[in-house]
Amino acid sequence: MTKQELELEAERERIHRQMLSSVSHDLKTPLAAIIGSLEIFGRMREVLTPEKAQILLDTALKEAYRLDGFITNILDMAKLENAMVRLHLDICHLSTLLHDCVEKSGQRLQGSHITIAPIDQKLECKTDAALLCRAISLLIDNAIKFSPEQDSEVRLSAYAQGPRLVIEVSDNGPGIPEDKMEEIFSKYTRIKRQDHQNAGTGLGLPIARSIAQLLGGNVLAANRPDGGALFTLYIPLAT
Ligand SMILES: Nc1ncnc2c1ncn2[C@@H]1O[C@H](COP(=O)(O)OP(=O)(O)OP(=O)(O)O)[C@@H](O)[C@H]1O
Ligand SMILES: [Mg+2]
Repeated sequence: MTKQELELEAERERIHRQMLSSVSHDLKTPLAAIIGSLEIFGRMREVLTPEKAQILLDTALKEAYRLDGFITNILDMAKLENAMVRLHLDICHLSTLLHDCVEKSGQRLQGSHITIAPIDQKLECKTDAALLCRAISLLIDNAIKFSPEQDSEVRLSAYAQGPRLVIEVSDNGPGIPEDKMEEIFSKYTRIKRQDHQNAGTGLGLPIARSIAQLLGGNVLAANRPDGGALFTLYIPLAT
């Protein structure tokens, strides 16, 4: 091996180690919280007040959902990277699809308000509705997660632009630093912010982009002129 090849190999190994440590930390943290809460519940159930018992169960359930999300993301990414995802193309009605996506995000809304801009009722697209909905849901998840807890404004819109269907998800959070617009689509990339503890595995955007590309389009990040992030997903209207 040449010196350059050796350096490249060492860099690849370093990144691999970093990913493994990040993933195992992300998986172990919620698991430790689930085990801890259930152990205390099991050992002390006789003496716990109903309120304290409920807090322990709520914590275990919340962390179990978080773990479920991490594992789903890791498996989805692996399937997309190994070309194991089959497309099921059908005519899909955009107004119905966006309302379905919002409904699926319901559990994570925590008081956030999502507005769907008026959509041309005839707007349709031939695509894989389940995959498109998964990609949109990942963008909605981020918009909710990175918006202020109070007075968050998440907005969805869909329109045709020439041969393309364009879907926009915007929020009134901190936005994306200009030099990170592409980096955030790399696996396990999260922007470090002292004031935000909400970051997840860093797989949501890579998955959303892989899905959009599989459907013949892409996802791009930008900031709104008046603050907040704006994610634009586009795919062909017909395949
Ligand atoms: N709407 C947004 N506003 C501000 N920052 C965002 C937004 N969406 C994504 N980001 C930044 O991009 C990073 C990567 O997003 P991504 O969805 O890939 O990962 P995540 O949300 O941290 O974890 P996961 O989606 O796996 O739970 C986020 O950690 C965050 O720093
Ligand atoms: Mg995310």
